[in-house]
This record gives sequence, C-alpha cells and structure tokens, in this order.
Amino acid sequence: MGKGQTKRKREKQGIRSNERLTVLLSHARIRARVKEMAKEIRRDFPDEPMHLVGVLKGSVLFLADLARELRGEVSFDFISVSSYGKGMDSTGEVKMNKDLDVSIEGRSVLVIEDILDTGLTLKYLLRLFEERKPKHLRVAVLLDKVERRIADVKADYVGFVIPNEFVVGYGLDFDERYRNLPDVCVVRLGSRGQTKVEV
Ligand code: IMP
Ligand code: MG
Repeated sequence: MGKGQTKRKREKQGIRSNERLTVLLSHARIRARVKEMAKEIRRDFPDEPMHLVGVLKGSVLFLADLARELRGEVSFDFISVSSYGKGMDSTGEVKMNKDLDVSIEGRSVLVIEDILDTGLTLKYLLRLFEERKPKHLRVAVLLDKVERRIADVKADYVGFVIPNEFVVGYGLDFDERYRNLPDVCVVRLGSRGQTKVEV
C-alpha cells in the first residue's frame, strides 16, 4: 500500500486521496504472532476455561483469530467504552457504552484490546473488572505503543511493540474506516507525508 499505488487501486481499498498508508505489520506476520500468543496463553492456563472479553470495536478481528488458535474451552463477551480528553489534555475519563452480558465472578478472564496507548482505558477496565472478583484477570493486546503510556498498566501478552504512529487495519480505525484491512498500516495525511493524526 505504498506510494506507487495507482489511483484505481487506492479507491478500491477505500483510501482517500489525502491519505497515505504504509504497511507496518503484514497479515502473515500478525497471523504467526497471534498463533504464538495463543500458545503462551495456553502454557499459562493449560486446562482452564478462558473467558475472552473483547473491547469493542477494535479488538474484534484480533479476538476472532486468537480464539480460533486457543484450544480448549473458550467463551466470549464484549464491552464498549469511549475515552475523552485524549492526547495532550488527557483527562483519563472513560465512559461505558455497553457493559458485559454475563458475570465474570470466578472466571478466568482475558481482556482483549487492539492497542495499548495511554493505558487509560485499560486502567479503567481493570479497576472495574477486579471489583467483580474474577478467578484470574489477564490482558492480551495486539499492539503496544509503549512511548505513549500515561497510566501505570501493562499487558500480560503483547503482540507487537510499535512506534508512536497512528495505525489502522486489522480492527483499528481512522474515523471508522480501515478496520477491514488485513494488515496493520501507518496512516499519514497530506501529500508531503507528515503525520497529522493524533490519538
Ligand atoms: P488508551 O486509553 O489511550 O490506551 O486508548 C486505547 C484506544 O485508543 C484503543 O483501544 C484504540 O481504540 C485507540 N487508539 C489508540 N491508538 C490508536 C491508533 O494508532 N489507531 C487507532 N486507534 C488507536
Ligand atoms: Mg479500542
């Protein structure tokens, strides 16, 4: 998805004329890493029924692939949250849009996130879930932008540590677009290629 793409090809992939996408992680690399992550999780919890809690909507593709690689008993649930005041004036305020459908008490919960950025969303979620007395509470993220961390949180399973760039694809969006791309790509705006998108 580099600079050499024809206009027609770009349009087919839904890329707007002022946006430049560069592949950061190919789908093949992601698939291989997700497979390894599933093994790491099963090594830590060999016979445990795992309750996967996906954070909507970005985690959906990652959860779907990870779940298929996990052997044994697996169930899903989803939560939806939005965070405010991101970037320079981050307030850490998180609002819940949709709570879990079932109780996590006594379950081995694996929170699935697309990307760990400031960490404020995850901090909110972990506090919320801990109060509900799960048997185990672990976190798997596909991407970790370590440099951007504000909250003191860590994921137990990390797919890839990535630089401080705005990325899309494999579930991640820019204005709700690009979630369906199989690769994770860096988005840059404008013809001169400078990054103007801030999270
Ligand atoms: P945090 O609370 O700052 O860690 O926010 C994490 C959320 O911000 C993720 O679940 C994403 O929805 C969003 N986000 C952070 N960085 C990116 C990015 O590079 N691309 C797309 N979404 C992002
Ligand atoms: Mg998200």
